[in-house]
Order: sequence, then C-alpha cells, then structure tokens
Amino acid sequence: MCITQTTHRGQGENGGRRGRQERTSGNCHTHHGEIAPLYTTNAGAGFHHEFMLRDLIGHLRFTFGLHGRRQAFIAICFNAGSLHIPKPQDSPTPGLAYPMTRIRISAAALGFATASALIPVTPAAAQSADVFRVMLGVGANESEQTLTWRSPSPAPEQVRFYPTDAPANAVIVDGKAEEHGITTYFSKEAVLTGLEPNTEYAYQIGTEAAGWSQPQSFRTGDGDDTWDFLAFGDAQIGVGGVAFDREQADNWNAAVTAGLADAPNAEMLLSLGDQVDGWGGVAFVTKQYDHFFEPDALRSIPTAVLPGNHETYPTYLEGMAHFREHSALPNEHGDSNYFYERNNALFVSLNTNLSSPEEIADQANFVRSTVAEHGQDKDWVIVTEHHSPFSQGTHYTDDDVRAIREQLTPVFSEVGVDLVLSGHDHIYTRSHLMNGTQPVIPSTAAKRGDVLTPGANETLYIATSTTGAGKFYDFQAEDGRKLPNARQEFLKPEDMHPSTAVWRQDYTPDYSKVAVTPTELTVTTYNVHNPQVVDKVTLRK
Ligand SMILES: [Fe+2]
Repeated sequence: MCITQTTHRGQGENGGRRGRQERTSGNCHTHHGEIAPLYTTNAGAGFHHEFMLRDLIGHLRFTFGLHGRRQAFIAICFNAGSLHIPKPQDSPTPGLAYPMTRIRISAAALGFATASALIPVTPAAAQSADVFRVMLGVGANESEQTLTWRSPSPAPEQVRFYPTDAPANAVIVDGKAEEHGITTYFSKEAVLTGLEPNTEYAYQIGTEAAGWSQPQSFRTGDGDDTWDFLAFGDAQIGVGGVAFDREQADNWNAAVTAGLADAPNAEMLLSLGDQVDGWGGVAFVTKQYDHFFEPDALRSIPTAVLPGNHETYPTYLEGMAHFREHSALPNEHGDSNYFYERNNALFVSLNTNLSSPEEIADQANFVRSTVAEHGQDKDWVIVTEHHSPFSQGTHYTDDDVRAIREQLTPVFSEVGVDLVLSGHDHIYTRSHLMNGTQPVIPSTAAKRGDVLTPGANETLYIATSTTGAGKFYDFQAEDGRKLPNARQEFLKPEDMHPSTAVWRQDYTPDYSKVAVTPTELTVTTYNVHNPQVVDKVTLRK
C-alpha cells in the first residue's frame, strides 16, 4: 500500500489531540525543491501515525506520532542510497539525530536530490488514547511531579517515565481517574516519584497493551538552593467573550515565552489563579482550558495552579469541578489548600475563595502547622493565593479581601512568611514590609530596585497584574476615587494606601521572575511585550 500523507499539527507532538489528516494515493517520489515529499508506509490496521514536513530549506524534518510499539523501524530511501534505523532507541545513524520519535535529516544528507521516504512499521496491537490537556504539576517536593491529562478512554491508563539516556530504567505508575462529573472525556492524574536532580526524563501516557503517547521530556532542577521560578497572574482566558479568547491566549503564551527567555532554567511556573474566565457553559470553559494548556512549557516544567474566583464560575460546584479535573495538588488540606517544598523554599497555597471566619481560621491553622513542620529548615516561606490582601485595585475594599487582610496577614507575620504572591486586581502593587496589616514605613521613598532586609514578623506582598490582559483595573485611591492612567510619580502619597510601596498600571500584561538564593529573594516584574521592568525588589537576609 502506498499512502501519501500530510498531517496538520494539532497538539500531537505533546501527546495531544491529533490534527487533521489528508491522505491520497500516489507514487513515492518528490522532486528537488518540492515542499511536500511523498511518504510510503505499510501502516497496518490499528497503527496510528502522523508525519509532518516543516521545510526543505535547512533540513527535512518530520515528526511521527508512533502511538504503537517501539519496535517500529524506519527506512529513509533516496536516490543516493538509503538510511536504515532498526529501532528508534538504537544509536543514531550518521546524518540523523532523533530524540526518540523526532527525526531530523539534514538537507546535506539528502543532497536535495529526488527523494522518497519508505517507512515500514510494525503495526501496534492497538492504539493508545489520544490524550490532551496534559500538564506537569508540582509534587510534594522536587523529587516528585504530578501529571494530569484528559483522555477519551475510560480504560485505566498509566504513565511510563525514564531518564532519556536510560529508557531501560522505565518506571510505570498507574493513573488515577478523577470523578468530577465530566461526561465527554476522562480526566486522570498520576504522581511521578523518585526523580533525581539535574536529570532529563521522558514520559509517556497509555498502556503497554494499547500503546504509549509520544514521549515528552522534562529536566529536573539541579537541586541546589540557587534557582528561579516564574509567576503569572490572572491569565483569565475568555473574559469578555469568545471573540477575545485567541488574543488572551496569545498574551498568555507570550508571557510564558518571554518569562522563559529571561529565566531559561526556571524550575517551576506559578499561575496565581483565574486561569480561565469560567463563564459561558461547559463548551466555552473547556475551550478556555484548551487555550490555557497551549504553552508547551506546561508539559516540561512543573506548573502550580490555584483557584481564583473565576474558577468558581458559573457556580462554585461547576467551576471548581473543572479546576479539580485539571490539577493535582500535593499535600492538599481541605478544599484546594496545599503545600509543597522546592529546594530551600516552602510554598503554601491557599484557596482564598474560602473567606468565612471559619474557613479563614482553618487556613490560618493550616499555615501555622505547615510552616512549623516544613518551614523550619527552609530559607524562604512563600504563600501563594489569588486574592491580594494589599493592592491599589478595586478589590481592596471587597468584603472577602478585607476579611483575608484582617484575619490572615497577622498569621503570615506570626509564622514568618517572607513573601505573598497573589493576583485578582490586575494592577501591579508591591507593599511595604508588613507586620500584619501595619506597614513598616522605610526612611527613604520606595523605588524600583529596593533591597529590603525584613525584621521579625515582616512580610512582603506582591499583587501581580494580568497575564492574559483581557481586563485591567484602574488605580483606586485611598478615598475610593478611580484614577485611570494615573502614575505613581504624579500622585500624592496620601492617594495611596498606607501599605503600598510601588504600584504601576500600564495596561499591558506582566510576568514576574523570582530568583532564589539562600540569602536573597528577588522578584523582577516585566512587561510581556516590551522590555520595561515594572518593578524589582530583593529581600535580603
Ligand atoms: Fe480574580
């Protein structure tokens, strides 16, 4: 059988949904300079495959999604001879380099001659499920990572992971089905444990019998106490309606890309809630999640998410069902409060949608016990929560924010929380060092680049702006006036809340890079679309 095939890229390279496929019969020769060469395959029944040709200018590259078994073999034939790869895991043939299922053939190797590709394969016994919305999450510590995925298959699925240079050492763990009332697909998660530092791993989802998804790789951190992570506020993809999904998703993608350009070795991504807008019914919400899951980095860098108020729309039950089916939270306490340890830092993440006195009291005790049991040997304790206790946005005066400010911030100071990262207000605001609700006013005016040495019980709060940029909040003055386009430089100090050190609203999306060392914690916040530094602050011990 001779099949000419062109496949358009979906999320296939990441084990995601397959793209559109076109197949026509034809001969197996292309001519010099043609963009679409012909492939011949004797693909058997049940074998799922896709090929993609990028260009013939610098190299001929195609990706095949071999959802079958690894014993498939490939022969590339062209008029100057042929190259033969018995198995993908065999040593590379000169002229070819392939990390598992990706094969690159240089133009020089082909000589730009007429070429055809003959790709015989051993058909798989069955296809693996087409998993989608795959995300690597933070584990309880750096030796663990969670993995969540969506699948059309109700059958049990597993995760196979291994150091990329030692596939024989593969470990297989069972996935756990998540029951959150989702009826059109199945949500699953697993925990990968025993990860060594500074090691590249590959993982695949599926089963031995049904086949595995394409390998996706991640690299563990180097395990020392000098490291970076990135923080993003309020992607909130979908705000304003479906017409704006794409634009907001583009901003979210751009933020992740820009952040990783600044912190290429970032060991973690933090999304501080309102990942999606949440309104508009199941189809719209899952589409918003599709967009949120677009950055490939979510499959190669552990990403921590937390619930914002928009994860509770249109109702708490419905919205949080989607939040839960898309996340796996380590050390969860109650409803979506959780903690994890990463190198020399302890992270405590709170679901600040819970703001009744009883719920806040429970969170306060969770913070106290977690810091007591896991924070004593850490250089830094960082709280992440969606609602900002201190900001110049309009939510500052909301009842739930007031309650969080009055009841939780004294606890943060009491236990020695160093930094609180939050979102919700879509306006960048850095507080003074705070002892509970009381600012510690510095002797000189706050400015970008401040290096602060906190005293006992002093905590820094940073409210991030939005990453998706679908909505911004104007500066709200201490007396309640909203001041569009205001700049800190031109306002009277008394217009700001006493807690505010630095704020900025430039109506463009931001991201923050956090650089951690044993003695310094530096948060630098950048505009996504231009090289402006919004703010930079260092906590020094
Ligand atoms: Fe919010």
